[in-house]
Amino acid sequence: MPEMKLGLFIRPTGHHIASWRHPNAHDDANENFDRFVHMARTAERGLFDMLFSADTNTAWTTEDSALNRQHYSAWLEPYTLLSALAPLTSHIGLVCTRSTSFDEPYTVARMFATLDLISGGRAGVNIVTTGNPRAALNYSQEEHLAKHDRYEIAEEFVDVLKGLWDSWDADAFVRDRETSTFFEWDRMHVLNHKGKHFQVEGPLNVPRSPQGQPVIVQAGASEDGRELAARSADVIFGASQNMEMAQEFYADVKARLARYGRQPGDLKVLPGLSVTVAPTREEAQAKFDELQELIHPDHGLAFLSRRLGHDVTAMDPDLPMPDLPAVDDVGTRSGQMLDLAKREKWTLRQLYQHFAAARGHMLLIGTPSMVVDAMQEWFENAACDGFNIVPSMFPDEFESFVDLIVPELQRRGLYRKSYEGETLRDRLGLKAPASRYDSAGVVAAE
Ligand SMILES: Cc1cc2nc3c(=O)[nH]c(=O)nc-3n(C[C@H](O)[C@H](O)[C@H](O)COP(=O)(O)O)c2cc1C
Repeated sequence: MPEMKLGLFIRPTGHHIASWRHPNAHDDANENFDRFVHMARTAERGLFDMLFSADTNTAWTTEDSALNRQHYSAWLEPYTLLSALAPLTSHIGLVCTRSTSFDEPYTVARMFATLDLISGGRAGVNIVTTGNPRAALNYSQEEHLAKHDRYEIAEEFVDVLKGLWDSWDADAFVRDRETSTFFEWDRMHVLNHKGKHFQVEGPLNVPRSPQGQPVIVQAGASEDGRELAARSADVIFGASQNMEMAQEFYADVKARLARYGRQPGDLKVLPGLSVTVAPTREEAQAKFDELQELIHPDHGLAFLSRRLGHDVTAMDPDLPMPDLPAVDDVGTRSGQMLDLAKREKWTLRQLYQHFAAARGHMLLIGTPSMVVDAMQEWFENAACDGFNIVPSMFPDEFESFVDLIVPELQRRGLYRKSYEGETLRDRLGLKAPASRYDSAGVVAAE
C-alpha cells in the first residue's frame, strides 16, 4: 500500500491569523532561529518528508489598515533559514519559495544546487510568480505584471533552471593531477539559452548535486498554475476545503501529465491541512475556539479584503457578505471564498473566521481517530498523495500532530515507521531524472 507524504508548512507562530496572540505563542518566534530548529526537529521526529516555507518579497502582506495586527510581515528569509537548518537535520527535505518574477534562474539554480549538496540531496524549490503586487515596488518596477504574463515567464524560468542543473555530468571532475585535467570538456554542457525572457549562457558554476534535479514544487491552482505544474513540477500544493474540490483538483492535474509524456506518479499532490487535535472532541473544539476569539475584527476584515481582492475593511462584520465578483488576479481563492459565503449565507465575520485558521486549506478538528478517518478517506479516494500540514499554532498544535496523529497513521499502515532512501526524491517516491545529455534516459529511484 502506498504511504502518505507529509510536508510541514512553517510560519513563525502558526497559520491562524491570531496565533501570535495565544498565551503559549513565543514572542520571539519571528527572529529566534532556535524556534525553527525545534520545529524542524519535531518534524523529523514525526518522519515528515519536508519542511516548506512560503515567501513574499514585501512586508505589505495584508491591507495597510491592519498590517500591525498580523505577525508575519517581518521574519527570517527562508532560503538562509533552510540552509542553516541543513546541518542540524539529517532526513527532512528543505523546500522554500523563490519568485520567478523577481529572481534570475541562474541565481536560483546555483542556490538550490548548493543547498542540495550541503544537505545531501534534500533540496527543493517552490516556484511562484508572486501574487502580491506591492513586491514589484521593491524590485525597481512600477507595477506587477499581469498573471498570465507572469506564468509565461515562469515556464521559461523553469526550463532554464532545469537546463542549468544538467550543466555538469556527475563524473565531470576527474581531477587528474598527472595530466593537469581538472574536468573533462565533454562532461560540461553549455546551455546557451536564448528565449523571450531569459538569455543564459551557462554552464552553472556549481557541480551536479545529489538529486541532479532538486525537487520542484508549484503552488498555484489556476489554469496557468495547473499547467505549469503538469509540465514541470514534482509536487503541487493545493488549497481545497472539501474532498470533492480536492478530487477535482487531483484528477485534473494528474490528467494533464500525459500531455507532457509524464506518468500520474510523477507529480505528487499535497493539499494543505490544518488539524486541531485532542484526546476528546470537546477539548479540540475548545482549543480551536480559543484562537478564533483572538481575531481582531479589523484584522479579519483586512485579511478578507486581501484574499477577495475587494476592500471590505469599512463594512460591518455582522452583515451578510455582499454579492461581489471574483478577482482572478489575486488568485483562485477569491472565487472559492465568495462562492462559499454565498452558499452558506455567511456574514463577513463568519467568512473571515472560517478562513482565519487555515487560510483556505482543509480544517479538521477532533480526536486522533476522527482526524485520521478523514485523512484516510482523502488519501484512499484519489483526493491527494499526502498533505502539507499548516498548523494553526506553533509549537503546541504541531507537537500535538506529531504526538497524536502520526502514531495513528502508522497504526493504520498509512505512514512510514522510519525514513527510507537517501534523498527527498527517494522519500517522495519520485524518479531521479537522468541528465538530458545522458543517453541512458530516466533512472527509477524506487
Ligand atoms: C501552499 C501554498 C503556498 C504558497 N506559497 C506562496 C509563496 O510562498 N509566495 C507567493 O507569492 N505565493 C504563494 N502561494 C500562492 C500561489 O503560488 C499563487 O501565486 C496564487 O495562489 C495565485 O495563483 P493561482 O491563481 O494560480 O492559484 C502559495 C499557495 C499555496 C496554496
